[in-house]
Amino acid sequence: MSDLPATGLQLRSLVTSAGKLELSIEEVEVTPPGADEVVVQVQASPINPSDLGLLLGMADVSTAQQGGSAERPTISADISPAVLKALGGRLDQSLPPGNEGGGVVIAAGESDAAQALLGKTVGALGGGGMYGQYRTLNVHQCLAMNEGVSAAQAASCFVNPLTALGMVETMRMEGFSGLIHTAAASNLGQMLQKICLADEVPLVNVVRKPEQEELLRGIGAVHVCDSSRETFAQDLTDAIAEAGAYLAFDATGGGELANQILASMEAAAIATASGYSRYGSTQQKQVYIYGGLERSPTVLKRNYGMAWSLGGWLLTPFLQKVGHEKGNELRQRVADEINTTFASSYAGEISLAGALQLETLQTYARQATGEKYLINPSA
Ligand SMILES: NC(=O)c1ccc[n+]([C@@H]2O[C@H](COP(=O)([O-])OP(=O)(O)OC[C@H]3O[C@@H](n4cnc5c(N)ncnc54)[C@H](OP(=O)(O)O)[C@@H]3O)[C@@H](O)[C@H]2O)c1
Repeated sequence: MSDLPATGLQLRSLVTSAGKLELSIEEVEVTPPGADEVVVQVQASPINPSDLGLLLGMADVSTAQQGGSAERPTISADISPAVLKALGGRLDQSLPPGNEGGGVVIAAGESDAAQALLGKTVGALGGGGMYGQYRTLNVHQCLAMNEGVSAAQAASCFVNPLTALGMVETMRMEGFSGLIHTAAASNLGQMLQKICLADEVPLVNVVRKPEQEELLRGIGAVHVCDSSRETFAQDLTDAIAEAGAYLAFDATGGGELANQILASMEAAAIATASGYSRYGSTQQKQVYIYGGLERSPTVLKRNYGMAWSLGGWLLTPFLQKVGHEKGNELRQRVADEINTTFASSYAGEISLAGALQLETLQTYARQATGEKYLINPSA
């Protein structure tokens, strides 16, 4: 452990009480590992939608300005007073973004579990600080990869794979037999489609562009409904009836999509029901909002009877609910299928300094299909 570096570079995000976002690259101390800990040299970390909240602080990226030097660039951007009010908990604190990543274990504590990871390529769930060269983590935050898997391939092995698996597990736990998924051409959506094909789970994909439909059909999707089509409401109803899908995971969150899904579920349930009830169908309809890609308020018109529910869904409470044994089973499936079912695609690999280039930042802030970047902090 004597060759453990004393410091490493890390990307930091600061929101000031004056309403500015300030992004910078700082030198931070490397924490030596405790008994059950390891130090990972991070070589790849994705910029996921779930990272952007902490990274960009909901700043107006059209106002972003470049500063600093070539090796240590900075970005500053304005945050509106209304948004600033919601950020009270983080004002004037420099925070380390980056939830997950892949890298090599370069130092380990004395426990057997920690020693077993020494020299291994792992995927890691850092819960912050992964846009940095070194991250000290508990062994439970690491997933050892099989021989030959690279850090880049391991980089997205927690957040999206376990969420996609969690959707299918939730379906089973709650007694449903089919799924609906929105923003379905996302990296996560493609994983979910592959899982559903392998596990024979009927899946209705909702996308908003013809090329997204093409992408999903290319990997074997049976039901794809494009919300840009005039026939969307009927297409969705027909697909739900065919798939028997009454549990939806909505990544958009805002606007009327959740409402449309509940309405189409009800129309599908009524079409297959035997009698009339003024309270609507008895089919339980559930939508979980699990992302906030659409920032406008969620609109519900409640014209689908009374047997429906809308809630939030997050990976961490799900993993706590299913417990260690199930969690480990899901993690092992991810490790074994990291280059197939759970493969992610990226627009490119960038350094820490590359992540703070104006044009690149404005690209990944859009969260568009195929525009996700992988940061290599050790480049
Ligand atoms: N709750 C949890 O625990 C959890 C865990 C993991 C991931 N997530 C969520 O899962 C979602 C997908 O993540 P990912 O990493 O797979 O994303 P990704 O690969 O970056 O893809 C994002 C997708 O969202 C679409 N999109 C963006 N804004 C949209 C909008 N306003 N309306 C409809 N579609 C929109 C994009 O399509 P266009 O090209 O058309 O813009 C793109 O296909 C994110 O919302 C993320 O926050 C949640």
